[in-house]
Amino acid sequence: MKKIILTGDRPTGKLHVGHYVGSLKRRVELQNSGEFDQINIMIADAQALTDNADNPEKVRQNIIEVALDYMSCGLDPEKSTLFIQSQIPELCELAFYYMNLVTVSRLQRNPTVKTEIKMRNFETSIPVGFFTYPISQASDITAFKATTVPVGEDQMPMVEQTREIVHKFNSVYGETLVEPEILLPTNQACLRLPGTDGKAKMSKSLGNCIYLSDDSDTIKKKIMGMYTDPDHIKVSDPGKVEGNTVFTYLDAFCKPEQFERYLPDYANLDELKDHYKRGGLGDVKVKRFLNSVLEEELEPIRQRRKELEKDIPYIYEVLKKGSETARERAAQTLSEVKNAMKINYFDDTELIKAQSEKYKG
Ligand code: TRP
Repeated sequence: MKKIILTGDRPTGKLHVGHYVGSLKRRVELQNSGEFDQINIMIADAQALTDNADNPEKVRQNIIEVALDYMSCGLDPEKSTLFIQSQIPELCELAFYYMNLVTVSRLQRNPTVKTEIKMRNFETSIPVGFFTYPISQASDITAFKATTVPVGEDQMPMVEQTREIVHKFNSVYGETLVEPEILLPTNQACLRLPGTDGKAKMSKSLGNCIYLSDDSDTIKKKIMGMYTDPDHIKVSDPGKVEGNTVFTYLDAFCKPEQFERYLPDYANLDELKDHYKRGGLGDVKVKRFLNSVLEEELEPIRQRRKELEKDIPYIYEVLKKGSETARERAAQTLSEVKNAMKINYFDDTELIKAQSEKYKG
């Protein structure tokens, strides 16, 4: 069986370092590993509209931001198909048929939908499109016969629900769709990178994100203002590393060889943590180290972005071409789905023959 990736993001803002360690970095590695037969990366504008129906301009503006973030991180249109969800009408058609295979109560139990309903204060009036987006996401994944879905931990219930839909479809209509596997980050800190304020969720409205496109000064300021251990007041005080955002970020980003470069007094992160726990290590020193570590990772991305920003029409061209390719792939699956469901009346000469027999004589 072919190894195929499908993944994507909602274009509701620029991508931040949480997106990067949670999935984006991995996608680039998978792309360059050469182990996959096909890689599809989708800008999920239609899904973004399910809870931004009154603000299509926000979604429209952010498509280019996400595309620039993708490509500056190293997603390469020569190797990966970058496309826009709304340009693939076949996805809606698939979703329409999958809707018959999912119950309202199953959707209500989807943990991601549950949290998002709370976050958006939708409790009393949930848009139907929003409520059913897990079904639409199942279409995204299955349309490409994806075997592998590299995403953040929050997307686990979506992939789980997709697997159920695939299972149900195949058992009702015959083996047609492919059951996808989720691919999560292996590093615990990358699973859910907190905001700079220590809150579990990075979100634009909380102002606690570090964006991939932030300049060095902005990043430095954000790091210097980062939440640490509130009880670590004097340098000599013993400090906590658990729940200390600066250390969580170091867990996610720092590489052993960076100690030699920036903090030669320590051999590795464990030694640095031990010193902090004992007392005698100030927050500022750790924050400066984190700043160097992040700069090393983000500076090349920033530079590539600057280059890409010089030719915006080219980026749209990439997305247009990608959407054409994606559409062909989705159309192939849709046709197999309709055949399996026997809603292919005009292609079915057997059907026409049988019906005419019935009415003969
Ligand atoms: N739900 C994802 C997000 O919130 C975006 C998305 C839409 C997606 N369809 C997908 C991700 C299919 C993986 C596979 O960012």
